[in-house]
Amino acid sequence: MHDDGHLNLLSHDSFASGVPHATFTRLRREDPLHWNQGNADTKGFWNLTRHADILLANKPGSVFSSAQGIRLEDQSYEEYLARRTFQETDAPEHTAVRRRVNPNFAKPTIAKFEELIRELASDICDKALENTEFDAVDAIAKQLPMMMLGRILGVPDEDLDWLIERGDALIGNSDPDFTDTVVDKMDTSAYRFMPFRSPAGVELYDYAADVLHNRRAVADDGILAKMMQDENQLNEQDFKNFFCLLVAAGNDTTRYSISMALNLLAHQPELIAALRTGAHWDTCADEFIRLASPTMHFRRTASEDVEMHGKTIKKGDKVLLWFVSGSRDEEVFDAPHDCQLGRSPNRHLAFGQGGFHVCLGMHLAKLEVRIALEELVKRIESFEAIEAPTWTRSNFICGVKKLNVRAKRLA
Ligand code: HEM
Repeated sequence: MHDDGHLNLLSHDSFASGVPHATFTRLRREDPLHWNQGNADTKGFWNLTRHADILLANKPGSVFSSAQGIRLEDQSYEEYLARRTFQETDAPEHTAVRRRVNPNFAKPTIAKFEELIRELASDICDKALENTEFDAVDAIAKQLPMMMLGRILGVPDEDLDWLIERGDALIGNSDPDFTDTVVDKMDTSAYRFMPFRSPAGVELYDYAADVLHNRRAVADDGILAKMMQDENQLNEQDFKNFFCLLVAAGNDTTRYSISMALNLLAHQPELIAALRTGAHWDTCADEFIRLASPTMHFRRTASEDVEMHGKTIKKGDKVLLWFVSGSRDEEVFDAPHDCQLGRSPNRHLAFGQGGFHVCLGMHLAKLEVRIALEELVKRIESFEAIEAPTWTRSNFICGVKKLNVRAKRLA
């Protein structure tokens, strides 16, 4: 769909050819607190698109709550209770769970995975480069996050394809390439108590229940086993939702960050040469993730009336924080649409920085992006797109889902 600066942020089709950056640029300039009137499925909602406003709204202690849902969909209280994870709670409830899971994702813990990630990435690149033409998303970008998610959870490798397919169906619930039950095209009310209103949620819940009741073995050092041994064990429903959160959050996001990087390399060969100098390994992952900002928004709900930009956000109103827009705000970023591998500081918002809910997996994601690229560029002489990429159809998760390339391996 052509982005004339006025696309409707509610429509998944507005995102089907990539993020409508002209629309976000106009909104940042002309209408930074933009009202969307909604439709039959969702009531109206506010949209914050400027970096400074998103930081303000996301600040700990602000009046914007996560505890009534973090996606656009309206939920009854029963649906909310059935599906919520700690991501859909506020302090102090959120803090208590976050403290327990945090050590598994802390920078020093994740740094210990560097060697494993490199081994996996190098195998993945070697395998992909056995062919000269391939879909780089399928062969490279998808593989590393999937394998690492398996290691983090502690589930067997043979379950990964199945899990990732279900994870794609959850998070890609508006894209017919990922699910037969497309949320805005058919009645999904039968699944309203399932994560993302998706039938894939039923299967993932069953898998999690099998793990919890020891009908399915998991590795002792994985996070699932640790959560089961934890003295403050999650109840069954919370455990199932926590499992679905990790499968959804830990997979597509990193995939689309790597695929954004691959898409840029496939169109701008000078980036390959620049990466090869070795001067940008400390900064490039953040720059690719800034440009990708794959989870484009999360929602909050106002817990009291707030004045902003001469308008009143009423108590109970939904507000979307468009991280994807804040990460390209020209007030903060020089040449915001350009890839500057050495950009520093890089105060992007792709991980929801500045909030209590800042991404738990960010150190893992950054390490995966960097190492995937290190291993790729040391092997390739050329890497070019042979077709235009295709994008996810979703106003929630954005990414290059197919990128056919021609690559030549260094002799
Ligand atoms: C480049 C990759 C990633 C991006 C762009 C990303 C993005 C985000 C964002 C924007 C949030 C904040 C949500 C909010 O404010 O409500 C978040 C939270 C979260 N992310 Fe990530 N994520 C990525 C990778 C991962 C990975 C690899 C994992 C786990 C393996 C993960 C697990 C989580 C969890 C559990 C939360 C909820 C944290 C909380 O509520 O305290 N993410 N992520």
